[in-house]
Amino acid sequence: MKTVKDYIRTIPDFPHAGIQFRDVTTLFADPRGLRLAIDQLLDPFVGQRIDKVVGLEARGFILGGAIAHQLSIGFVPVRKKGKLPGAVIGESYTLEYGAAEVEIHDDAIAPGERVLIVDDLLATGGTAEAGIKLVRRLGGEIAGCAFVIDLPELGGRKRLADMGMNVHALCA
Ligand code: PRP
Ligand code: ADE
Repeated sequence: MKTVKDYIRTIPDFPHAGIQFRDVTTLFADPRGLRLAIDQLLDPFVGQRIDKVVGLEARGFILGGAIAHQLSIGFVPVRKKGKLPGAVIGESYTLEYGAAEVEIHDDAIAPGERVLIVDDLLATGGTAEAGIKLVRRLGGEIAGCAFVIDLPELGGRKRLADMGMNVHALCA
């Protein structure tokens, strides 16, 4: 039986020399791979109350949308700066290869809602930390963070654990 990791390919030197880019498009393109990933991402949260899925741009939208559909709950995007049309709040962060700012609509999460944060990959944890801060600023509680890939050598898991996060990842 193939595992989730078997569906992911690594592209060397993308988008910059020295980056080993984990390409999940091959996972998403395979019907068994996509189903396996969604089921396994949800596994530890079955039976828990989750009110919203927050997906981190861009691949967190694909996974988060499928998870929200599976749970019959709503999906909220955290987008790169300047993409959301309504009133937003923002957080800046640094990446494995650069810096960025992400935003969420300021009415997207109601106070007290329990949120599952979803993305394809955890590297330094900067993107996820920014997403967590945005949800918390709106009064949401984080039920957990779910990733397909964790690159532990980049420190993201520790960074999120230090924030008190329940971090779930399917492979390294
Ligand atoms: C990747 C990945 C995560 C983030 C993880 O997105 O999908 O969102 O990096 O890195 P971090 O843990 O160091 O923050 P990317 O920046 O490539 O953006 P994209 O999905 O919009 O292309
Ligand atoms: N985002 C940050 N580091 C990454 C990597 N190595 N592969 C894919 N996405 C990433």
